[in-house]
Amino acid sequence: MSVLRVRVWRGAEQGAYQAFEVPRQASQTVLDVVTYIQRALDPTLAYRFACRVGMCGSCAMTVNGIARWTCRTHVDKVAADGVLEIGPLANLPMVRDLVADMREFFDKWARAKGRFSGTRTRAEDFARVAPHSAARRDVDAAIECIGCGVCYSSCDVVAWNPDYLGPAALNRAWTLLRDERDGTRTARLHAVAGEAGCHACHTHMSCTERCPKHIAPTAGIAGLKRELARAALHGEL
Ligand code: SF4
Ligand code: SF4
Ligand code: FES
Repeated sequence: MSVLRVRVWRGAEQGAYQAFEVPRQASQTVLDVVTYIQRALDPTLAYRFACRVGMCGSCAMTVNGIARWTCRTHVDKVAADGVLEIGPLANLPMVRDLVADMREFFDKWARAKGRFSGTRTRAEDFARVAPHSAARRDVDAAIECIGCGVCYSSCDVVAWNPDYLGPAALNRAWTLLRDERDGTRTARLHAVAGEAGCHACHTHMSCTERCPKHIAPTAGIAGLKRELARAALHGEL
């Protein structure tokens, strides 16, 4: 049986990689490898996953230097030479082993006003968005975000400027700005402006290249910049 040589990050910021050997299997995912290590070789290994089918966004890690969702990443695709190096997501504090602390990632969603805020009362009918409306089509792909943090971990601007809201929070703000049922437009525009917001994006595209859901946060961020310019011209800000 062939064997994978796997190096896994252990500990927190002061940790080191530990080597393991894992039997290679057909259709094996990176998450399968981590699970094998935890179940068969070292039960103290900390990692995070839930759905195993690309829905929950909790299994993202750095695999051979690139942020990926591990439950849908096949070993054959990333370790043709039989070597894997697995660490926690970059640009986030480490908790332990393969677990990154996601608090600042989600705090930034809150800072970007990434929460839907409806304008109707309980007594009114449901607000509906016409599926073929232009605003709805604009965000068709963007609403599929699973909050995995791959884009955030891949963004150089986040690394340079820890205050930067980052691609996922800005993508979320963009989807809500295009939602005609939402009532937080002006406050959200203020929240996403400036050097901690969309104007800091250098359009490097790493977020768009790496997003496992094929979302283009770069396009949403460009949309936010356009919307801010329009709002400023109309005296809205
Ligand atoms: S396009 Fe903008 S948000 Fe995306 S990775 Fe590049 S700098 Fe970051
Ligand atoms: S935009 Fe893509 S990469 Fe970023 S959190 Fe959402 S699903 Fe993950
Ligand atoms: S375990 Fe849920 S997306 Fe990978």
